[in-house]
This record gives sequence, structure tokens and C-alpha cells, in this order.
Amino acid sequence: MTLSLFRASLLSILWVCAVAVSAATRSPSYAPNVMIASADTHATRAGLHILEQGGNAADAAVAVALALGVSEGYSSGLGGGCFILVRMADGRAAAIDGREVAPHRASRLMFVPVNESDRTDLSLYSPLAAGVPGQVAGLELLASSFGTLPFEYLVEPAAALADTGFVLNDYYADALRYYADRLAADPGSAEVYFNELGAPFARGERFKQPDLAATLRRLQSHGAREFYTGETATRLCDFMRDHGGLIDEQDLANYRAKQLEPLRGSYRGFEVLTMPPPSSGGAHLLQMLNILEGYSLSPYGPGSSAFLHLCAEAMTLAFADRAEYLGDPAFTPVPVRALTDKAYAEHLRSTISTDAHQAQPSPGPAWDYESRLEHHTTHFCVVDAMGNAVSLTATVNTPFATGITVPGTGILLNNEMDDFVTEPGKPNYFGLIGKAVNEIEPGKKPLSSMTPTIVTYSDKPYLLAGGAGGPRIITATLLTLVNSMDHGLTIQQAVDWPRIHAQWMPDRLYVEPEHPADVQDGLLERGHILDIGPAKSRVQAVVADTVRGGWLGAADSRGAGAAIGF
Ligand code: DON
Repeated sequence: MTLSLFRASLLSILWVCAVAVSAATRSPSYAPNVMIASADTHATRAGLHILEQGGNAADAAVAVALALGVSEGYSSGLGGGCFILVRMADGRAAAIDGREVAPHRASRLMFVPVNESDRTDLSLYSPLAAGVPGQVAGLELLASSFGTLPFEYLVEPAAALADTGFVLNDYYADALRYYADRLAADPGSAEVYFNELGAPFARGERFKQPDLAATLRRLQSHGAREFYTGETATRLCDFMRDHGGLIDEQDLANYRAKQLEPLRGSYRGFEVLTMPPPSSGGAHLLQMLNILEGYSLSPYGPGSSAFLHLCAEAMTLAFADRAEYLGDPAFTPVPVRALTDKAYAEHLRSTISTDAHQAQPSPGPAWDYESRLEHHTTHFCVVDAMGNAVSLTATVNTPFATGITVPGTGILLNNEMDDFVTEPGKPNYFGLIGKAVNEIEPGKKPLSSMTPTIVTYSDKPYLLAGGAGGPRIITATLLTLVNSMDHGLTIQQAVDWPRIHAQWMPDRLYVEPEHPADVQDGLLERGHILDIGPAKSRVQAVVADTVRGGWLGAADSRGAGAAIGF
């Protein structure tokens, strides 16, 4: 069956079934040749500029990522890390690991309080929270292995944006207002984020970041290693020494991004390329797709309780495995082959009932899920006219991460160490409870959920997706793929459609409030314990337009992004 026929048949099935819920949505952006969908318009434009100058998707991705560190710096930046999935038109594919790593002086129980009065939030809001940043090395590896333009050229749009500044939108201004107290408490951040009147920059004000511009200019002049061995490194390490952090010159000098083989799976005849460990995202995305592949989903419709129940069960099973098996493969063997194996999925599927939720046998105590995860990690997709494709997720972890800016550099320090199990049984920021496989060891990478993914068909990129939202990245990417590929939704509908999320512990089904009462009832009747609230995830995706040729792009309507092409 050709792809267009395949999709047409999906659509005809959809046509006859009643759809229980619909997304308030817009039309996807159409462009015949190239498309960039990022979470910020300035960054999308930075990438388009590089494509117009003759760069390829890899070049554009570097420019977008660096620009996002400027115009959406609360989500990702030079002080953070990233995972990149790239697939070139000639079939070469790679997963680039630019994830932060624990400093060599980190230790397993470093965050466990000793005295009653000790702080319990050091893995989030202190210099100790920062892993050795990997973003710059990851982007440099992408550029040198797959790009065509010199690195300094790709830094220019971000450097210019930091230099001349940009007018703050509501979205950024709200974030600054919300996190103002934390930022005010750190002299370096106060310097960056507060205007001359001592107030956080507000909507409509021009926000310039001269220190960050100077740091980017140093990368331009001396190359990406400057970050790890040059003045930037010195400033970062001096700061760490003076403020009780662990990252030192040796940590930075030893940091290397890694090029890994992508995980490859399949879903209904499509090939799915995604991120291997040290992210858990790709393995569990494939695991859940394998489970769901055994059902005929399209007749249920995208918002039906029957469909959502099956997704919820697959999610719960996958996250049970995540806590048990997933950690940095450089330290612990991870059974990736089994997790992504069709037979294993079949076994798991056989434990699912279509009528009743299987509760976690010994559910953990309900934990108070952090309610504001709206400004965080970032994902974008780039495709070029040659069929090269990049799917990239970058992060500093939580919104504004540590809230600490290295003085004189404009660099916000990540708090990726919180992705480790920082204390046995203690949930991390995202409520995830892990086991020994993800405990801190020197040089080990904290387990991630980032899931940059490229689906191919007939050896060509078909669908790119990924997202932000901690563990919800994995399930939001899953639902985007399934909503598009099974339910035949447009890519914008697939992205905007109300989402659910389950992560094994706590035994909850997180449900966006847009799901109507009968759908929620259908889930309750099957034994799910519902927690109604916002998705706390953001997806950007691009799909091939199989009718006209070209691309359809979608930035999540939950955020302020833009999908634009030409
Ligand atoms: O790598 C991870 O899984 C997390 N550090 C991602 C953080 C994130 O998505 C923040 N968004 N809510």
C-alpha cells in the first residue's frame, strides 16, 4: 500500500466513527520545501536564515538550538544539554548525546541531608545541582559530522539576538515574573533578568543579554572547545569553587559529546528512529508503540476512553520497567533489546485488559506533583529540501534550572543532577522514583526522558517529533505519533489533541481537562485514578505532506512556538 493510500484508508475509517473529543486547534503551517518548528519564533527564523544561506538541516539545527538559548533561555541553553537525532538524505543516521554528566567529585549520597536543618533542595537550586554541560559539545558534533557551514557561522544568529535583544512576549514575561524571587536571590541572574529599575524585564521591553552575547562571540572566535577549556570554562569553574559547586577544569576538559547508533523500531510498517539510553525516552516509546501495534486503534477515535485506556495501560507498564532497568548504559547494562522487542511487547499486552485498569501492585505514596512545568525543555524539528532531517531536544532541566547565572557569562547553570536518584526512594522533580541503576556515580549521566524521533517510510523521513515535559515527553511523543499515524489527524491536531500521561508510580492517570465527562467516566470505570490537569508537555512535529509533497509543521498550541517553512 502506498503511503497516501494508507493515510487515505485511515481517514476513511475515521470518517465513519464518532470522535468523542476534538482539539481546539489551527491549521498546520504548510511549506513546499523546508520546515522548522521550534518553540520560539526568533529561533525558527535563525534556522530559516541558515537554510536560506545554503546550510542544511544540521546547520540550521545548531543555529536554532543556540538561538533558543537566547530567546527561550529559561528552557535550554549553553549551560544545559541535549539529545539529537539526525538522519541524512543519504541514509546516515546518528543519535548525538550531549547530555550533562555528573562531575568527577559527585557522590551517591551527596544530596542526602545529614542534619534536620540541612537543605533538601540542593539537587534543584544550588551550584551542586549542575551536571557538566553538554549542549555546546553536542551541537559542535552535529555541525562537524553532518553540517556544511563553519560553526562560527551558525553561532551568529544567536550572538546577534543576544546582542541586540528582542522584545519580550507575554510568555517570557510571565515566566520572569513567576520566577522573579529565585532569580533575584542570585546576583548573576538579577544582573541578567532585571532592568535598571530593579524589576524583572516585562512584556514589550527589549531584553538584551550582553554577557551571553560575549560568551557566544568567544565560541565564534575560538570554536566550541572554548566553552570547555577557555575563558568560559575558567569563569564557570571559578564560580563553582567560590560557591560550593563541584564542576572543575578537569570535568569540563574531559567532556565529550557522543555519537550513538539510534534505536530503531517499527510501527505499522513505518520505521521509527529514536534516542537510545542514556535517555529512557526512545526505548519506552518503542516499547509502547509495540504494545499498541497489537490493537486496531483507529476505530476507537483519538479521544475515546477505550483508546485512552489502552494507552494508559501501555504507559504504566513502560514506566514500571523504566524505574527497574533504565540508567546510563556506561554504568549499568540496560536491556534495551528486550524492552524494544515485539515479543516482549506481546507478553506485556497480554496482561492488559480492555475493561479494567491494572493497578500497580504496591503503589507508592501519592506525591505532590509539581504543578508548574510550563517553561522547561525544548524540542524542534528541521527538514531541508534534500531530505535531511534533525529532531533535537535540549534542556537545562527545570524552568530557569538552578536559577544561577555564572557571573559575566550569561550562562544559566543546569540542574540535571536531579534526574539521578538523589536519595533512595525520593521522587525527583518530576515525581519519578528510580532505583540503583540511576544512582549518582562519578562520570555517569543522569537518566533522561528526552525523545527526539524521526519516523521514516520507504527510506525517507516521514514524521519528526519530540517534546518537553520531563517523563511526559515520552508519552506526549507517543500520542503525537499514534494520533497522526493511527487516527489520521493533521499534525497540528495530533500535537494539540488533549493528552493523558501515566508513569507507573504514582498510580495515576494524568488527564487534560478537555477530555469530556463520558471519556473520563470510561476511564474511571476501568479503574484508572484520574488526576485532571494541564498536559505539562510541549511537542513540536513535522510530517511529510504525502499529497502535495513538502512538509506540514506544527508547534504545540500550548506554547508560543512557530512552524514556518519555505
Ligand atoms: O532529561 C530529562 O528527562 C529532563 N531533564 C527533561 C526536563 C524537562 O523536560 C523539563 N520540562 N518539563
